[in-house]
Amino acid sequence: MGLADRLAAVVGAAHVLTDPDVTGSYTTDWTGRFSGPASLVVRPSSSAEVAQVLQICAAARTPVVVQGGNTGLVGGSVPPPASSGGPIPVVLSTTRLDAVGPVDQAASQLTAGAGATLAAVQAAARRAGLVFPVDLAARHSATVGGMVATNAGGLHVLRYGAMRQQVVGTELVLADGRVLTRLSGLVKDNTGYDLSQLVVGSEGTLAVVTAVRLRLVPHQPQRAVALLGLGSTAEAVALTAELRRRADGLSAAEIFYHDGLELVCGHLGTEPPLAAPRPVYLLVEITGRQDVVGELAAVLGEVDIEDAATAVADDEAGATRLWAYRERHTEAVASLGVPHKLDVTLPLGALAAFETAVRQVVADAAPGATLVLFGHVGDGNLHVNVVGPPADDDTVDGAVLALVAGHGGSISAEHGIGRAKVPWLHLSRSPAELAVMGAVKAALDPGGILNPGVLFAGSGDDLRRNGDADD
Ligand code: FAD
Ligand code: MLT
Ligand code: ZN
Repeated sequence: MGLADRLAAVVGAAHVLTDPDVTGSYTTDWTGRFSGPASLVVRPSSSAEVAQVLQICAAARTPVVVQGGNTGLVGGSVPPPASSGGPIPVVLSTTRLDAVGPVDQAASQLTAGAGATLAAVQAAARRAGLVFPVDLAARHSATVGGMVATNAGGLHVLRYGAMRQQVVGTELVLADGRVLTRLSGLVKDNTGYDLSQLVVGSEGTLAVVTAVRLRLVPHQPQRAVALLGLGSTAEAVALTAELRRRADGLSAAEIFYHDGLELVCGHLGTEPPLAAPRPVYLLVEITGRQDVVGELAAVLGEVDIEDAATAVADDEAGATRLWAYRERHTEAVASLGVPHKLDVTLPLGALAAFETAVRQVVADAAPGATLVLFGHVGDGNLHVNVVGPPADDDTVDGAVLALVAGHGGSISAEHGIGRAKVPWLHLSRSPAELAVMGAVKAALDPGGILNPGVLFAGSGDDLRRNGDADD
């Protein structure tokens, strides 16, 4: 029996996809920059089916690319290009693992299947009067399994932390089919290594996440959003620090620039938020139980900002409208062409100097390219987007990441390494750390079948070697 038939016997023939017209959306990433062939797409509906799929693929020495919503921005969710020369992988889609369990009111937690979308989890939490506090613009497609695998950050990290801080437990399927279940929701459990946390940020290289136990937080019924026009990145960093000190309910501090705002307005066909353009925009949000508008006004009154450079929203429609100027940057950039997306963190004290320097570095490395900067300034996280260089020319990527390292930053704040940044991982990790990471990978996935070429170099070399040894 061929591989497709063996997998169909586990998941049903309707869930083994081989028609290239159907598999196309699984083999190219959201940006259009990363793409590669898959022999088939398999869609299991339970952890037991995932276990059998992995056992069959391991026996056939076929690599497995794990995919959730395919909104990842670093090429980790799709197969490597045919030119990489490794064996053609199977894509394992988690989208049928989408059950969202009831909210445990005593613990403020819920358990969701890895393929549940962020929006589905957020809605379940809200129905129970609680909130799942991680949020990002791809909420209707991104899955909680993918968000665990990438340790997704998003819009409210400065208040609630990234995905890692929300994960109470997981169910994992290892490459050999063993299932590790820790979904009891115990917040105190000091019984050795925390394998759930080990998998957070592992980008599909250690295990398939099949379910996640998540913490929820109280709903803050009041929300005020302000968009502030400023003169420089340094001002935005200083004002964010001031807000952090004074506003208990600060839940977002986001930055973008005039050229990005013009791009978004053109893309959406909307007017800019302020009458007079400013070089830098800081979007801040305060949430709480009462009078957050008063709190925001009081804090802004104490700092020196002209009224003309401030737009404030105290209702949902207004807040959504202001947020759109920031959230819609990703799609506006993508409308220009295939973007090179670099997602970096800097020490807050180095962010302004980096912003100035990166403009020159990009101009030198990719003359004529369009550079759009935006990000989560409260976390020191800038998204560096470059449109112009061909998808497979990574000169500008290397130049920007070297600059990041020179400023004491990390080459990935929240999107991960994927296939896009493998050559530069050494800029953020020491040889000893890389060796330990390799040892962990070898311990959990000795055959190297899970996402080869993601995070670490190589695209099936281990599989080929194992194959030769067995022959
Ligand atoms: P995929 O793209 O399908 O996969 C991502 C990685 O996780 C791959 O390496 C894949 O192999 C692995 N993976 C997926 N599911 C599993 C699983 N069940 N088990 C093991 N490994 C798995 N990211 C942020 O951090 N912050 C943002 O603000 C943000 N905003 C975004 C806005 C837009 C418009 C878009 C398109 C993307 C944005 N992202 C953001 C990136 C993306 O949404 C996140 O990386 C998200 O976590 C990916 O989830 P996914 O289900 O789409 O995963
Ligand atoms: C964002 O903050 O909007 C996301 O991380 C997506 C992006 O970088 O484009
Ligand atoms: Zn982001």
